[in-house]
This record gives sequence, C-alpha cells and structure tokens, in this order.
Amino acid sequence: MNGSFMGRDVISILDFKREELEELFELSDRARKLVDRKLRLLEGKVVSLAFFEPSTRTRMSFEVAARKLGADVIGFSSEESISIAKGENLADTVRMLDSYSDLIVIRHKLEGAAKFASEIALNPVINGGDGKQHHPTQAMIDLYTVRELFSEIDGLTYAIVGDLRYGRAAASFIYALTLFKPLKVYLVSPPILSARPEVTSLLKSRGIVFEELSKLDEVIEEVDVMYVTRVQRERFPDPTEYEKAKGTYKITLKLLEKAKHSLKILHPLPKVDEIELSVDNSKHAAYFLQASLGVPVRMALLTMVLGGEL
Ligand code: CP
Repeated sequence: MNGSFMGRDVISILDFKREELEELFELSDRARKLVDRKLRLLEGKVVSLAFFEPSTRTRMSFEVAARKLGADVIGFSSEESISIAKGENLADTVRMLDSYSDLIVIRHKLEGAAKFASEIALNPVINGGDGKQHHPTQAMIDLYTVRELFSEIDGLTYAIVGDLRYGRAAASFIYALTLFKPLKVYLVSPPILSARPEVTSLLKSRGIVFEELSKLDEVIEEVDVMYVTRVQRERFPDPTEYEKAKGTYKITLKLLEKAKHSLKILHPLPKVDEIELSVDNSKHAAYFLQASLGVPVRMALLTMVLGGEL
C-alpha cells in the first residue's frame, strides 16, 4: 500500500484512511530504529521548507527528518527574508520552489494556502499548518503518540482542551479521531473558544460520541488522553477578544489529583501558560515525547511520499 502515498499532497488529515495511517505508523516504528543512522534513501532529493509563519518543531523536525534520509534541504522561515518582501506573489514563490526541489513543506497564515500551493506545484506539497484550518502532520504525530502510550487509539476517552476555535492542531486531532473509534470525545473550552461548526458537524456525521463543556473538572476522572492547546493569540481578529480569552483555563497538579493514574497529557506545543510548569515533571506529561516523535513520523512520511524504502 506504500504506493498510495507516493507523489501525494498532504493537505488535510481527512484525506487519509485509517489503514493508510496505520501503515505510516508501522513505518514510523522502523524509522525510530534507524533514527541514529545517516541514511541515503532520499539522496539526490531536495526538500523545500517554506515557512511563512514561525515554527520550532515542524520546520526543524522536517529538516532533521529530511537530512537523516540523505536529502538536501532549502527554505526560509519568514516572509521578510524572501522576495515576497519585494512584492512577489505566493504563486510565483511556489513555482520557484517547485523547480528547485522535489517536495515542498509549506506553513502559511492563510487557510487554503497549502491547497493553493498544491494546485500550482507539480511536486508534492505537505501542509505544515494553514491558518486555523489544518495541521495534518501534527495529527499524525499525535495519533502515533497515543498508539505509543496506550498501544491503541480506539476505545479511549479524549478531552480536547483549550482554544478549539482557532487552533489548527486541535481541529486536526479531532478530525483524526473521526478516522478511529474513540469511546468518547470531550470538547472542553470557554464558550468564546468553542469548536467551529464544521468540526462539530463532522463529529456528528461520523457518529462520534462527544460533548461540549467548559469545565474540565466535571469529566477529568473519565479521561485517558487530555489534548491541551494554547490560546492562539495571533489568530484573533479582535485583540479585546483575546484579552477576554487568555488565562481562562489552566492545567494544574491540583486538578490532576482527580485524574486516572494512566492519564496522559498531549500538547502540540508551543505551550505558554495553560499548563502549570510543575506538570512537566509529572507522570502525566507526554508532550515532550510527542514532540520528539515528530522526527520518525516525518521521516516515514517523507519516505512514503518521495518513494523510498525504509
Ligand atoms: N506543533 C507545532 O506546529 O509547533 P511549531 O509551531 O513549533 O512548529
């Protein structure tokens, strides 16, 4: 089935079937065993990292993954450093990258930018995050982390906590869960940050048992996986709305006293102040493991899209 990824754009997690993700996870297992080696599977290939928005994990883990596979990497991490600053448009920028490289990873503040790039580029385009909409490779890492921690993704109770209105990682993770069989999904946010209608509509149409609420302590005892996100300050159209939303939730050790011993906390990172720092050292924190798994999952994905064999 490896062929189903070859040459393919990765725009939304909803473009994938469960079986395809399971295949990706198996390849990610293999990549983890090889992660300390310098491989030559993608020797001669060039990967473009076109980051129009800030990133630590996505850009760097794609770069490490590509280099470990033997590919060369080109790219940029802000609009100011490329000819967009001189007035060049996105389409021409994509055409250039497409001619210099075999695959483009793009992050952009505009929803639809990755899809737009994929319609221009002849080579595959991977969405590294477009506005509040999609972050498919983050969702792949998130599912892989749950599989690593619980040996399964089905049958667990999930609480997605925080900014469900503007957070693309949260939306993508919720979309990803609709490809599996969660026992229940709690969407926990203050009303000002509640999930967008397209997200809840999909949960309904796919028969996922879910509930929207604003207080995590009402359900924390049931939860296996808590997926926390920060308030996405940069996406608020109105700064006064951000002022109302910030600081409206916080995961504390006190709150976690009521949780299952086996509860694991995921977070796509960066985190700001929504998780008390002392939680980092608790048995529940799994977000640094989650971030580290970005390298093998992205190694597997690059290999599958560019046609190598791990
Ligand atoms: N999770 C994530 O997308 O992190 P970065 O913004 O640092 O890439």
